[in-house]
Amino acid sequence: MKIIKMFLLILALLLQIFAAQPAIYGENGVVVAHDLEACEAGIQILKAGGNAVDAAVAVSYALAVTHPQAGNLGGGGFMIIQMADGRKAAVDYREMAPGGAHRNMFLDDSGRVVPGKSTRGGLAIGVPGTVAGLQLALDEYGSLTRSKVMKPAIRLAKKGFKIPYHLAYSLGWLNQAAKAFDETRRIFCRDGDLYQPGDLFKQPELAKTLKLIQRKGNSGFYEGVVAQALVKSSSEYGGTFTPDDLINYTPKIREPAAGNYRGYDILSMPPPSSGGIALISMLNMLEFMSFDSVGWHSAKHIHMLAEVEKRAYADRSVWLGDPDFFQVPQEKLLSRAYASLRIADFDSSSATPSDSIYPLNDKDLADIDPVGHESEETTHFSVVDQWGNAVSVTTTLNWSFGSYVTVEGFGFLLNNEMDDFSSKPGTPNSFGLIGNEANAIQPGKRMLSSMTPTILSKDGQVVLVLGAPGGATIITTVLQVINNMVDYGMPLPDAVTAARFHHQWRPDVIQYAPRAISDDTAALLKEMGYELSKRNSYGEVNAISRDRVFGGWVGAADYRIASHGAAY
Ligand code: GLY
Repeated sequence: MKIIKMFLLILALLLQIFAAQPAIYGENGVVVAHDLEACEAGIQILKAGGNAVDAAVAVSYALAVTHPQAGNLGGGGFMIIQMADGRKAAVDYREMAPGGAHRNMFLDDSGRVVPGKSTRGGLAIGVPGTVAGLQLALDEYGSLTRSKVMKPAIRLAKKGFKIPYHLAYSLGWLNQAAKAFDETRRIFCRDGDLYQPGDLFKQPELAKTLKLIQRKGNSGFYEGVVAQALVKSSSEYGGTFTPDDLINYTPKIREPAAGNYRGYDILSMPPPSSGGIALISMLNMLEFMSFDSVGWHSAKHIHMLAEVEKRAYADRSVWLGDPDFFQVPQEKLLSRAYASLRIADFDSSSATPSDSIYPLNDKDLADIDPVGHESEETTHFSVVDQWGNAVSVTTTLNWSFGSYVTVEGFGFLLNNEMDDFSSKPGTPNSFGLIGNEANAIQPGKRMLSSMTPTILSKDGQVVLVLGAPGGATIITTVLQVINNMVDYGMPLPDAVTAARFHHQWRPDVIQYAPRAISDDTAALLKEMGYELSKRNSYGEVNAISRDRVFGGWVGAADYRIASHGAAY
């Protein structure tokens, strides 16, 4: 008997070890984000009576301190809000091209893209939107003052926080990569005397900047000493910023992209992100198929997803861009009728070659050289509160640590978001994504994004809040988590941590993370006409779902990178 009991105990322990990251449960509110400190900042605001929007603003500012790879003051982002009273919004604080930007700014005299020009240094920087966007969200949907919601971030910058392993690792890498960026190496790499895991990281310059924003709001950032230093630092690295570029920055509240998948209402980010439209159009196509007798990650399952992904990414390359500059046929792309037409040539037994999915001019495509996935450092967090309000935020500097330009004396990095424009229509960007006229560079325009902060509801109640980093892979990551939960009944932690795969039309390849596709399945897919390539794990999904048993909220942080959650 004793032996049996011992055996059962060992078995229980083993099962726990091999189980997915235990869920985070909260009756009143949950925050799931890259850093524990940022999650705690959000919970502190919720406990102080703030709503999910107040907490989201606090988390954003905290991430600007604790997660310099992607959390930011010098970048941009998108926020999807669903309030319990029925209000819905997409807050767009995507960066804008400065006034000096022009269509051919990244080309040489013979019309070729100059490598690196759109990704590092002053010309890579778009006008930052985060500070103005967070203020807009707070004004329209928050309930606490800016002064209060910024307190946790200011404390983290001033008093410091212990450097986690993944940040120490990234800062070591930054020290090598950013050799020409003295201020960046001074602030983040102690001039080569590198931070070790567990070291205290204090950022007095950043604390000063945050306090200016706390006191003065937008004018503390877009005007005065911070703005002057920003313009100066950008020009030192070849940028064309003027004070007017900063003063003219405007965040926008847009109608979220909306759809429905098998009874779940979906809200996601509309243009200038491609995320919401591509996600909903893929789900619309999938609704014409059934997963009932299709095994999870069988060749058939992967084929179904890959085929809808190819079609949506082909559409993305032509029809998506900043809606203030290009007429995006949003209604058409989101319609069931269009999805039915788009998937009509689906062949259940073989891959449709990307060449025949969208007949782009062969001459334009001949030279496409699939670009490696150098960096996909964006960050996503999700927040829910005791009233049932939900906020889904994805924010970024684009690549890890953005352009590498730090604003001298003010302690924050600037983005390299200009690379998300089509430097040369028809030529892929750093994620291998192709864009066309819709995403050509123009002064004041927002560059196309893949960020896909998303909220699902049923009968007016929020049931799932999610999103991910990962450049081009963001949209297919969000798609797979929804597919895992809605079509395969997975609990949230399993759906979030399941290995993933990705097809983006060009290159015509299924990329897959370790263990996402078995060798047997890969062989079947090759017989169907697919090319496959292995890649690292990707997509740090930070999600929250409604708990069906106790009625509170369950959080799931993607442990593969470094995420955390907090609840109360
Ligand atoms: N910079 C990545 C994105 O916006 O999709």
